[in-house]
Amino acid sequence: MKPRVLVARQVFAQIVARLREHFEVSTNDEPVDWPRDELIRRLQGHQGVFVAATEPIDATLVAACPELRAVCSMAVGYNNIDVAACAARGIVVTNAPDVLTETTADFGFALMMAAARRVTESEHYLRAGLWKRWSHDFSCGADVHGATLGILGMGRIGQAIARRGALGFGMRVIYHNRSRLAPAQEAPLAARWVDKDTLLAEADHLVLVVPYSAASHHAIGARELARMKPSATLTNVARGGVVDDAALAQALAERRLAAAALDVFEGEPRVHPGLLAAPNVVLTPHIASATVATRMKMATLAADNLIAILRGGAPLTPVRPA
Ligand code: DGY
Repeated sequence: MKPRVLVARQVFAQIVARLREHFEVSTNDEPVDWPRDELIRRLQGHQGVFVAATEPIDATLVAACPELRAVCSMAVGYNNIDVAACAARGIVVTNAPDVLTETTADFGFALMMAAARRVTESEHYLRAGLWKRWSHDFSCGADVHGATLGILGMGRIGQAIARRGALGFGMRVIYHNRSRLAPAQEAPLAARWVDKDTLLAEADHLVLVVPYSAASHHAIGARELARMKPSATLTNVARGGVVDDAALAQALAERRLAAAALDVFEGEPRVHPGLLAAPNVVLTPHIASATVATRMKMATLAADNLIAILRGGAPLTPVRPA
């Protein structure tokens, strides 16, 4: 008997075909996210599940799915998975690191530039038919080249953004992270570890790339926003919940922050109305890793992990409990 795998969300047909070579596969063929109870119902009798960043794999689900042995996500972030509950039950969890690093860094940098140079704000102005003449001070933003790039969370993606800033745009890089990079990693970027308040105070462009957890919930709230320069920009390609969106909307409305760029939101796909109303914020629908090639690599890695684990091998990219 082949093991049974549930692909809990729509994914490339090639990925499902590859899984069918090894498993009895059930799929979610609709563009809907199954709520936890539906997921529990569908998972009965399945040993593996293919997920991404939204399926709620929590302790209740783990307890209710006794045959489950592998939870393999095509996302790098795994705050939707209770890794400790899985580990306690011997369920192997995997994520998809590395394959999306450069793509996500490209997008983070693009968002940061769009906020600094007021790209979407100017485009909306043009599309609204308001552009009548050139003017010396119209839509002036802030330079990116030569500015201070602040990074909160200096993991793989943070380092890739730092490389773009330091080597491509001559930016001074400062960062805050629980652990410092090795001197050999800091040196080529002239990157400097600073405490969080220094990061907030000195960054011209602050980019958030910290994983979401209870510890990083509202890492940027009213207190932190008040410490930033009024000329600064804030970019979030991490997770909704890292930023207090209500506090950010208020800071943007009061021009206590020049601009923001957000790919992720608290309670997405809902977006705080204050952010939707603010002209000085670039908003994108959680697409930082969205290139065809990268999404294919992410999905392939999740499938390869399922195949490795359910055929008795070692997972390729396991997530271990903290
Ligand atoms: C990830 O991989 O964590 C991205 O945010 C896509 O969900």
